[in-house]
Amino acid sequence: MGEKLLDVFGKRRSVRAYKPVPIEKEKIDICIESARLSPSACNSQPWHFIIIDDPDLKNRVCEAAFSGAYSMNSFVKEAPVIAAIVCERKMFLSVVGKYIRGVDYCLTDIGIAGEHFCLQASQLGLGTCWVGWFNEKGVKKTLNIPSFKKVGYLISLGYPSDQPVEKVRKLTSEMSSRNRYG
Ligand SMILES: Cc1cc2nc3c(=O)[nH]c(=O)nc-3n(C[C@H](O)[C@H](O)[C@H](O)COP(=O)(O)O)c2cc1C
Repeated sequence: MGEKLLDVFGKRRSVRAYKPVPIEKEKIDICIESARLSPSACNSQPWHFIIIDDPDLKNRVCEAAFSGAYSMNSFVKEAPVIAAIVCERKMFLSVVGKYIRGVDYCLTDIGIAGEHFCLQASQLGLGTCWVGWFNEKGVKKTLNIPSFKKVGYLISLGYPSDQPVEKVRKLTSEMSSRNRYG
């Protein structure tokens, strides 16, 4: 029997140091397929994953993304692959979500798809790190993404070269309750 889902959740962690070895194309394809299968509001599937594995392009993306105030995320340069997730926002849903419910369904949806990607990567022995702090303008310019689009997140991907540390999490009793709030 394969690895239990709960074990995959437990194993997934943010990896910020990578071995300088390439990732098999089939593994990246499986991660993308996992993201493709994820749920979304009205099944709008408002995501586009750009897989950046060309070393020269990846360096240029990192230079644009992690200069100045964003340099704390420079570790991403070490990763052999970066995935950029672009929001393909549907007008109707974004209006309903933002103004009536106060929920950004597009960012929610790409968050779920991105985590499918990360969990699958972890199950394949790869490490990932979500990156929400980056120069979006610079990334769009480097990748020729139209300025009106939203690049929600970057995800670094590669074989980990560091060791896991213990997870810091709230207690179950602090983050859940039964039949009442709090
Ligand atoms: C939406 C989102 C954005 C994040 N942005 C960053 C980031 O910019 N830089 C970084 O090093 N980690 C980033 N992280 C990783 C978190 O710091 C990490 O998930 C958290 O500390 C829990 O640790 P773990 O992933 O190892 O379990 C981000 C995570 C999420 C979900």
